[in-house]
Amino acid sequence: MKDYRIRSIDDYMQSYQESIQDPEQFWDDYARENFIWKKSWDKVLEFDLLKPEVKWFQGAKLNITENCLDRHLSQNGDRTAIIWEPNDPKEVAKHVSYKELHSMVCQFANVLKENGVKKGDRVCVYMPMVLELAVAVLACARIGAVHSVVFAGFSSKSLSDRINDSDCKILLTADGGFRGSKVTPLKEISDEALESCPGVHRVIVLKRTESPIQMKVGRDVWWHKELMKVDDDCPAASMDAEDMLFILYTSGSTGKPKGMVHTCAGYMVYSTYSFQNVFQYEEQDVYWCTADIGWITGHSYIIYGPLSTGATTVMFEGIPSYPDVSRFWQIVEKHKVNIFYTAPTAIRALAQYGPEFVQGHDLSSLKTLGTVGEPINEEAWHWYDEHIGKKKCPIVDTWWQTETGGIMISALAGITPTKPTFATLPLPGIQPVLMDEKGDLISELVAEGRLCIAYPWPSMARTIYGDHQRFKDTYFSSFTGKYFTGDGCRRDEEGNYRITGRVDDILIVSGHNLGTAEIENAINEHTHVAESAVVGYPHDIKGNSIYAFVTLKGTDINQELIKNEILQLVCDLIGPIAKPEIIQFCSGLPKTRSGKIMRRILRKIACRETENMGDISTLLNPEVVQEIQDQALAH
Ligand code: PRX
Repeated sequence: MKDYRIRSIDDYMQSYQESIQDPEQFWDDYARENFIWKKSWDKVLEFDLLKPEVKWFQGAKLNITENCLDRHLSQNGDRTAIIWEPNDPKEVAKHVSYKELHSMVCQFANVLKENGVKKGDRVCVYMPMVLELAVAVLACARIGAVHSVVFAGFSSKSLSDRINDSDCKILLTADGGFRGSKVTPLKEISDEALESCPGVHRVIVLKRTESPIQMKVGRDVWWHKELMKVDDDCPAASMDAEDMLFILYTSGSTGKPKGMVHTCAGYMVYSTYSFQNVFQYEEQDVYWCTADIGWITGHSYIIYGPLSTGATTVMFEGIPSYPDVSRFWQIVEKHKVNIFYTAPTAIRALAQYGPEFVQGHDLSSLKTLGTVGEPINEEAWHWYDEHIGKKKCPIVDTWWQTETGGIMISALAGITPTKPTFATLPLPGIQPVLMDEKGDLISELVAEGRLCIAYPWPSMARTIYGDHQRFKDTYFSSFTGKYFTGDGCRRDEEGNYRITGRVDDILIVSGHNLGTAEIENAINEHTHVAESAVVGYPHDIKGNSIYAFVTLKGTDINQELIKNEILQLVCDLIGPIAKPEIIQFCSGLPKTRSGKIMRRILRKIACRETENMGDISTLLNPEVVQEIQDQALAH
């Protein structure tokens, strides 16, 4: 059998060339030899990026859980699939073998069936980072139900919006979730959300924190009791290649989040291929991705990519600062982690406490480090390299998105020469291009522009659930026939790519994607708020922070009180991750004559870049600019 693993830079060059010259052949070969299919495909790829419509492996039948679980049983059934590390280090970690995970998934899949879930139904999963979350996701996939995982830090309003948008009929949750020294009341939040979700007829509740909760008769059932009613024999549903596997929400430039739809075959093929090649996973390696399964990173690189590879993947319930800021390094030492994948914001947050918290922990098992979610600054990169990798571990800076399903631009560990702050080179099958603001392709090698992808890849999102027009408008209309990422990007003389940040109304705060419109909508809910404009500004730890400019109705108002109420509103309507760092009240917001708020000016004020404001004389109200600027300096 051909070895599809890239093992040298020459291999990479060759694979890349092959994947561009004949993408269908390239993916046909890899997919055929590396997965089990219930039926092979009739056609590798069919697409029209104007519609846009993309279909990979049409005609094929498969079940992703057979690839993630069943196929490992005969030879590696006793190998550890998941090492689960609890929030509290005094609680015992769990090592779950492939055989055990298979049994747990099948049993819970039967629970879902018993509770009326059928192929194609949407299942909302709002859970802490416990083993059962991974089981729930895989159990949905087992029976062909579509999982929609909602990050357990989101508010009840965000949860109900997501449940209703994708018309989920069942919710999986827990009595509560441990996060550091806090308990998140997940069931209470769910109850509040469900008041406005008439479609949900069943809630399955896992006991985790033993928090006192209300169980609604006829609707709510206990997870452990349901398990007692079923066995662990559950055949894998036969899925079409293009059947939906999951929906995952991400912020957009309107207030409404977008339910990105990923499908079975292409997603499986590319999440596996990218996992194996980027991290250079070798049998027996212990791999740890610190993300939450509520985000795409957790879907692709805690669950699907690693399990389909037969890897051992660590799942951590807690946070990096509990019980103290050496927790990550304790875990690396405890489980002898070989590959460690985290977010720049975590690295920056931990670096500020100094190397004392790293010293004293044996990190000698580490051989590869990764980052994801936002640009990594040079200082954080060097800290990671020196204090964690001890200058012997390659760092893979992986650029990708919820929409792309898998890593698109990244070094391959130990193979691609790395360059701090550069994601480096595209993976095989990925064709990045830079476009100028007029919409033309930039042909020079060394250039800066808007990052687009010119050709389909297997794990690209197929649509936005229930709104294909929005999918087209958001991703395929700015640059005809190309997927527009929303990111700005620079290319150097060696063809390395460096992501410079979003060029649209999305802010990346601590690696989380937030829409400015979504935050503005929340702020505007306050009865005393007339208008608001939210922009980002650089922050040492979080990468970006949120700055809200707000105008109020009326004059005789206690501003401190309103500030606190606004913060609470944002927490209630979105979640704590969306709270503005600075709220500045202004008498007016700078506007064009047609009434559009000039966010560009506010961004400059927030970033303290006021020397070069540009021409403001054409504004409707140029006088407010100086006033806002003076007040900002006082902040
Ligand atoms: O701006 C880019 C940034 O995160 C965005 C995607 O966010 P999300 O869909 O939440 O997925 C995050 C995890 C894959 C991108 O448009 N981003 C992600 N990775 C990087 C990055 N920016 C720079 N460097 C990265 N490695």
